[in-house]
Amino acid sequence: MDLFEKCYQFSRANEIIAAGLLPYFLTIEENHGPVVRMAGHDVIMAGSNDYLGLSQHPEVIEGACQAAKEFGSSCSGSRFLNGTTRLHTKLEEELADFVGTDACLAFTTGYLTNQGVIPTLVQRNEYLISDKENHASIVAGALLAKALGANILRYGSNDMSDLEANLKTLPIDAPKLIVTDGVFSMSGRIVDLPKLVELAKQYKARVMIDEAHAVGVLGKEGKGTCSYYDLKPIKDVDLIMGTFSKSFASLGGFIAGERSVIDYIKYNSQAFRFSASMAPACVGAVRAALRIIRREPERVARLAEITNQVREGIKSYGYKIIEGITPIIPIIIGDDMATFGAWRKILDKGVFVNAVIAPGVPQGQQLLRVSLIGTFKQEHVDKIVTTIGEVGKELGLIA
Ligand SMILES: Cc1ncc(COP(=O)(O)O)c(C=O)c1O
Repeated sequence: MDLFEKCYQFSRANEIIAAGLLPYFLTIEENHGPVVRMAGHDVIMAGSNDYLGLSQHPEVIEGACQAAKEFGSSCSGSRFLNGTTRLHTKLEEELADFVGTDACLAFTTGYLTNQGVIPTLVQRNEYLISDKENHASIVAGALLAKALGANILRYGSNDMSDLEANLKTLPIDAPKLIVTDGVFSMSGRIVDLPKLVELAKQYKARVMIDEAHAVGVLGKEGKGTCSYYDLKPIKDVDLIMGTFSKSFASLGGFIAGERSVIDYIKYNSQAFRFSASMAPACVGAVRAALRIIRREPERVARLAEITNQVREGIKSYGYKIIEGITPIIPIIIGDDMATFGAWRKILDKGVFVNAVIAPGVPQGQQLLRVSLIGTFKQEHVDKIVTTIGEVGKELGLIA
């Protein structure tokens, strides 16, 4: 059979497009912060990860422009060879200071960070113990580690008893890394980090946490999950991973920890050495965003306030949501076409949310993922809640 036969036979996406229900790859024609233009209509963007709304901030845009003017549009190569500018090293120092570690390394994306760090650290006869709900980039890193001879174990999401049961099966002195999302990207749940750290110490494992959805959202000044639980980077959590594509309003990723470990990754990670470095404009944008986050902690507080309002509002309509405190609000629908249908009606009424089906979530847990931006005005908050409520009633999703 021809290799491409599966491509020629793949018709699912076109069928859903023909029904006007495909919730993916929608074109944003204009972006005005919390409101974007799609298919000729203004809609409230309740499906982005720009948690602090900084992607539209004039200082962030200026930071990107200045960096591009100074260093050009691209680094045209990897950090290793010709792609390290003084902006990259400055950003790494500033981030290490922000997250509270000795050192930090900036990768080209968050995905590449996980894919690059995990197989560099965990190899033959070593163990990776990974939460089942971890992001796809951690899974990609785990697969590469496995190809290098590492042993991969997976435990039930945020299930500390299952984590312990797995740890108990391993030799106490075997090298091991527990990896987890800080805030799980689809459920919005926060990891039980205090218990995880306790188990890691008891069973002599290192800990890496993916803070993609926690930075700018949780803890003092939005420093993330460690700060939320009052745990200490390095002392309690060995490695802090993050992305620049969410609260930092740019593109790129980072890993932060002890200097010797970060240096090891720097000289040994294939994904770091063989991929072009972050473009100067991306670095300039992150540095500006970080300055704002540190200067204006009230942005994080406002996001929490909005989150509470929207969570309570959606719940008051009788929807089944995954409880929590993060600005990721999952509304369980439980079926592909019902999820797409609700998504479409909500969009037609002027609110964009994300429709998530398998493999993003397990079958039966299909959901509408509402994610919030801290710069929403009260009118946006009210409209998101009432629109989702009205559509639920119209479609019989709620009583
Ligand atoms: C938990 C988590 N980790 C990593 C990533 C990858 O980050 P990036 O968008 O920078 O590639 C994402 C992005 O969706 C994420 O949600």
